Amino acid sequence: MNPHSASGSETESFIPAPGATRGKPVGTGVAIRGTGAYTPEKVLTNDDITHLVDTTDEWIVTRTGIRERRIAAPDETAADMAVRAGARALEKAGLNPADIDLVIVATITPDMPFPSTACLVQDRLGMGPVCAFDVEAACSGFIYITEIATSMLQSGRFHNALVIGTEKLSSILDWNDRSTCVLFGDGAGAAVLSREENGNGDGGRGIIDTRLGADGSASNILYMPGGGCRIPATAASVTAGHHFLKMNGREVFKIAVRIMGQASQDILTDNNLGLGDAALIIPHQANSRIIEMLSERMKLPMDRFHMNLDRLGNTSAASVPLALDEAVEQGKIRPGDYVVLVAFGAGLTWGATLLRW
Ligand SMILES: CC(C)(COP(=O)(O)OP(=O)(O)OC[C@H]1O[C@@H](n2cnc3c(N)ncnc32)[C@H](O)[C@@H]1OP(=O)(O)O)[C@@H](O)C(=O)NCCC(=O)NCCS
Repeated sequence: MNPHSASGSETESFIPAPGATRGKPVGTGVAIRGTGAYTPEKVLTNDDITHLVDTTDEWIVTRTGIRERRIAAPDETAADMAVRAGARALEKAGLNPADIDLVIVATITPDMPFPSTACLVQDRLGMGPVCAFDVEAACSGFIYITEIATSMLQSGRFHNALVIGTEKLSSILDWNDRSTCVLFGDGAGAAVLSREENGNGDGGRGIIDTRLGADGSASNILYMPGGGCRIPATAASVTAGHHFLKMNGREVFKIAVRIMGQASQDILTDNNLGLGDAALIIPHQANSRIIEMLSERMKLPMDRFHMNLDRLGNTSAASVPLALDEAVEQGKIRPGDYVVLVAFGAGLTWGATLLRW
């Protein structure tokens, strides 16, 4: 991995002129208008998992911070969950499905390889025949689709976008592998993004900036080998466990701390803000120890980091929007606050978004 590629900041850094006073960050003219969340009813506790694999509640809590996670019903799909989260985001945004002209879904557990889950959601929510597609960037998916939607809205050809991260990770977990099955859960989180008619270029509310990155040379530390064209589904591939998520947890952990720290710092400093200017960081909910190390690295107290992984585990592309919606509902984000969304995931991929609420 090239540590310098972690942020893209070498080419895009904001370098104030000598002696210049700190200016306000410049916005994109796009803002989050509403958020929504859905988690399945079934709660699977750590104690429940001790009946499946050789583990303990104490091990899971100490190493990850996770106490329980939600598991979708057998017939409940990523699209089902996305529809519920998306409908809630529309309601909170005060918009109707007919107002949306762009639907982007981030998921690594689509209902089917094709058609896209976004097309299923578009139909089920009763939208018009508008642009709909999926993006696969694993746990960074929501940051990726927020940036894609922001750029498409900025183009002037789209007005209101529904972006959704949704996952049924329980469907790709090996429930005999204690090193992975304890970590993940199911759910969906959504946001409606709109062009701000009056613009937000002068420190107003909205998305300010995003950094995205990827390093495919680390694709072998978190992946699912089967189901694509390299290992299509056969009786042998299923027996060999190729359709389950595989992970080198220790390697992922080390890289996650470094990348999320770098991306969060760069997005703030590149926009001429101090680290302490972030009222709230919404990190990908993978492991409480990763977030604690992020807090040490950024020298920010833990109450500046929103966490819900104790109750939901790691929900991949749904993780950041679920946490964002919860923070909004709990009144932890106030108008005018600077908020950083930051994530990393398989690919490896990573991203950070700076916004003003
Ligand atoms: C997975 C993770 C929790 C493991 O924690 P760790 O401290 O690195 O633990 P290790 O992998 O070194 O394993 C330590 C021991 O615990 C054991 N162990 C692993 N899972 C266990 C479990 N659920 N219960 C009990 N013991 C377990 C291992 O077998 C190992 O035993 P050994 O020393 O006898 O070989 C941690 O590495 C992690 O969170 N990594 C990041 C994962 C992640 O975020 N993935 C998603 C990215 S989007």
